[in-house]
Amino acid sequence: MALEAAAVRSRAAELLAAHWDSERGHTYPNLTTYPHQWLWDSCFASICWAAVGRPDNGLRELTNAMSSQFADGFVPHIRYAGNGSGRGPRSDVSSYTQPPIHAHAARVLSADLALPADLLGRISAGLQWLWTKRRTPDGLLYVVHPWETGVDDSPRWDSWASDFLGIADWREVRWTRESFTRLDLYLVDETIFDEQGEAVGSRVFACAPAAFNALAAHAAAEYAALSGEREWERRAVELAQCIDAHMWNPGAGLWSDVPIVGGGEDRHVPTLDGVLPALVTADAERAGRALDQLRDPLRFAAPFGLAVVARDHPACDPAGYWRGGAWMQMNYLARLAALRWGRTEIAAEIAAMSVAAVERTQFAEYWNIETGEGLGAIPLTWSALVAAMLD
Ligand code: DGY
Repeated sequence: MALEAAAVRSRAAELLAAHWDSERGHTYPNLTTYPHQWLWDSCFASICWAAVGRPDNGLRELTNAMSSQFADGFVPHIRYAGNGSGRGPRSDVSSYTQPPIHAHAARVLSADLALPADLLGRISAGLQWLWTKRRTPDGLLYVVHPWETGVDDSPRWDSWASDFLGIADWREVRWTRESFTRLDLYLVDETIFDEQGEAVGSRVFACAPAAFNALAAHAAAEYAALSGEREWERRAVELAQCIDAHMWNPGAGLWSDVPIVGGGEDRHVPTLDGVLPALVTADAERAGRALDQLRDPLRFAAPFGLAVVARDHPACDPAGYWRGGAWMQMNYLARLAALRWGRTEIAAEIAAMSVAAVERTQFAEYWNIETGEGLGAIPLTWSALVAAMLD
């Protein structure tokens, strides 16, 4: 029998409280595997705090996530707590960024409390940095490491992995965590950092990902709604138009990444990321085609979905780390896209799958889409997002 909404909320609240560092003012994703503050994790955690009736903690969490922002607006993807390293030349923070969920998190919190002007200023500076430092001539935003997408070991990076591993055909890449960790470290070595230790380019990897662009356009619209700044509304529309102009893949009914430096032969591997531009496109027909796949058991629907790689694609591994297994923050974002188009039946199905998953996995980092077996770090704080999906 499915957990009652009240029970889900109270277990989510316990999870958040157990991972809360009251001095630093944020949660840890997991106390042993992830003992730092990650940017998108914290943005999601602040949404979780709001969902369990503690928007005050959510505001502290979000404020601290933004607190290590550089003077030029760059927001690091990790604030190390204690010893940390390995993501660029600095020992206090990472040199990479992550999807700008901060604007949406702030929008969610704004339903319950007034947002400080300083926080809004940081959000706007963070978006401005992306628009200034990470835009292609076509107007798309690019990343210089897979970590910046949050979607670490996706098959969409296999073509870069094949170059690195010396395998001629990317379809022959046999993923292991170990080989992808080596790829990640190699991509750090090949990153170009500026004098303050910010990642500004890469000799071997740059990509404009469909989801990162969609989340940035969504962030621009969320910030515009919060601040009333029409310029950000205009930029949101403009970026959504660029996504439609350069990323739509009519064969798959999804949006695909655009490779900028190296790799990219695998850009059309159908992943859940390719649905997220439904958050911002103005094209109802495209949004409908992408969203319909959330209900299709051959694509992203699964007993314990959503699959992050379409189930009818050879790369899909039901238990794979970013290779097919399901993730709560992806369910949350896909549900948001469904709601934007009034697809309440899809939203309800995603919420039901998410409740079933936390019940089975004890709020795991990710889980097997066929069996519901919990995988990765257990528990993981952002799985409390299930509380934000209850009607
Ligand atoms: C890292 O550790 O830098 C990655 O973001 C983990 O997902």
